[in-house]
Amino acid sequence: MVGVGMIFEETYAPFFETAAETPLYDVATGPVQVQLAALVSRTGQRAARYLQHRANLFPSCQNLAGAQALKELLRQPLEVVCIATPDNRHYEPARCALAAGKHVLIEKPSVLNLSELDELVALAQRQGVLAKVVYHKLLDPDHKRLRTLVCDGILRHVNNGYCSLLEPKSISGSQFAEWIHGRNPATYVAVHYLKLIDFTFGPDWSLDRVTATGQRGLVGSPDGYTWDSVQLQVVYRHPDQREAAFDIHTSWVNPDNFPGYVEQEVQFRFDNGVWNAHQRKRGVEVTVEGHNPREFKITPNHHYNAEFLEPWGQRRRRGYGIEVLERFFREVAYVEYGGPPQQRDQRLRAMQQLDYNDLAADRRCVAIVQALEAILERAARGKTGCVVRVNGPDGGLVLYEPGCPEKVVLYAPSV
Ligand SMILES: NC(=O)c1ccc[n+]([C@@H]2O[C@H](COP(=O)([O-])OP(=O)(O)OC[C@H]3O[C@@H](n4cnc5c(N)ncnc54)[C@H](OP(=O)(O)O)[C@@H]3O)[C@@H](O)[C@H]2O)c1
Repeated sequence: MVGVGMIFEETYAPFFETAAETPLYDVATGPVQVQLAALVSRTGQRAARYLQHRANLFPSCQNLAGAQALKELLRQPLEVVCIATPDNRHYEPARCALAAGKHVLIEKPSVLNLSELDELVALAQRQGVLAKVVYHKLLDPDHKRLRTLVCDGILRHVNNGYCSLLEPKSISGSQFAEWIHGRNPATYVAVHYLKLIDFTFGPDWSLDRVTATGQRGLVGSPDGYTWDSVQLQVVYRHPDQREAAFDIHTSWVNPDNFPGYVEQEVQFRFDNGVWNAHQRKRGVEVTVEGHNPREFKITPNHHYNAEFLEPWGQRRRRGYGIEVLERFFREVAYVEYGGPPQQRDQRLRAMQQLDYNDLAADRRCVAIVQALEAILERAARGKTGCVVRVNGPDGGLVLYEPGCPEKVVLYAPSV
């Protein structure tokens, strides 16, 4: 495990803890034990705190920190490396792990540009391993139902929609303080919705253009490179040439005492219907005296991740945030142990064809992220209103600035 921060504690830790006690089982693979072998981080401090109370579950798990930690990790006989480092530090550990022949799972956003994506996808192909990205919102039962209605032709032809995800100030002000400089909340969380839109309503459409704007001044200086809030617009074109536009609003400066505490909602409008959903207000409202909304959520999403006392007495944390990790390990188990060694290639190809998490299917999301980063970088220098066009006459990803005759080719090949 590379990166042992907030998302490790929320989802990876409960997965590894359950897996340490209950092997994954499938008829094809038999029981498969998942063991947490090592934690790699910048300082090793959070990892040490975590391991201190888990010695019984992970007696031989190593705590590796510093410049040589990744190298040390990759010298060990591991099969899988999970990467949950800050947004702009995924590529290097992923590249090294794939080069060492490990299956790799990367937290969203996978990488920040298409050249990096191309390299990782090619490396995974050469090494005969899986390279996948975590998009847990695709496993949210509401989103599975949305996709079912679309695939079954009940909701027809999406035209437009909006998504918003607003994180509290504590995220930008303390949790991410070490790596937030120059970053933005859209790359961090809009990708959840970019993938949801692309996976649910695609793949038979094409990405046409990307625009974005935002506000600064709370997390960083008003004229700096760190963004408080971002409004992103993505336009697709259906095969019948009609356009579909999506506005995605993100921020990490919401009040800390906002009930919930992350605000999340979506609306999608179709030729024949509207889908309105709130990922925070799931119907449960609970208030306990003496607890503020930050430490005890008033409008909780128990589907994502919660601790449950099962009717049969077992106590464990589960939800789609954890299920998505288990799925990946099942896919690795299937490749390695799901049949005779001479059919491994066939099994590998079958798992690589799963577009919900394969890195090769992340092209359009990474293209949007690359466009967004380029637009925001210019906006921070006062060049607002840029648009990035996709697969136009000038190249795969090309940035145009209002009033400026020159174009900037961000990615020449077709997206
Ligand atoms: N799926 C989701 O909904 C979701 C939610 C939150 C975050 N994420 C994603 O998960 C990733 C991590 O976010 P987080 O919230 O866990 O961040 P975080 O709390 O800031 O933790 C970052 C972790 O990475 C380690 N780290 C930093 N730089 C490193 C490096 N160069 N090499 C090795 N380790 C390094 C840190 O080490 P120290 O412990 O020593 O500081 C820390 O353990 C981000 O990409 C984020 O977008 C996903």
